[in-house]
Amino acid sequence: MHIIIYMSRFTRILDDDELACLFDTAAEKNRKAGITSVLLHDSHRLIQAIEGKRETIATLMAKLESDPRHHQISLVHRSAIQARQFDPWHMRAARLDPGQSLAKLSVQAADLLRSTTQVPVKAAFFGFCRYSAKAIPV
Ligand SMILES: Cc1cc2nc3c(=O)[nH]c(=O)nc-3n(C[C@H](O)[C@H](O)[C@H](O)COP(=O)(O)O)c2cc1C
Repeated sequence: MHIIIYMSRFTRILDDDELACLFDTAAEKNRKAGITSVLLHDSHRLIQAIEGKRETIATLMAKLESDPRHHQISLVHRSAIQARQFDPWHMRAARLDPGQSLAKLSVQAADLLRSTTQVPVKAAFFGFCRYSAKAIPV
């Protein structure tokens, strides 16, 4: 079992319906492919953890890299893991509330990360919150 974490930026702001469609479709595809995943976004940037077999993850990453809905994809973390961290979530997505303090955003992220024991995974997602909270120009 492997996990990969990447960050990217939406090409444009997607409305609620578009996001729901994206996440529902991804959840269904991930369920069929044996992938578990969590995703955090602030409407501009996103961070996603994907876990599954190495080849399955590589196939999905190739698709993600050519998806026009986002760009500036950068790999944050990749490792072998003993067991899935996000079972049973095939696509659990959460949006950080804009303009909130780091403390509030961290609570939102902590909820998403409750099941993981992996320090690099937590560090990557909490680091993402820090960027959102600081309102670095998007
Ligand atoms: C931010 C973002 C996250 C995505 N996450 C997933 C995902 O977890 N699983 C998935 O199958 N597709 C995901 N997609 C969609 C893929 O990029 C791609 O459209 C889809 O896998 C195409 O599948 P198909 O070629 O099998 O039809 C995501 C797209 C975006 C923009």
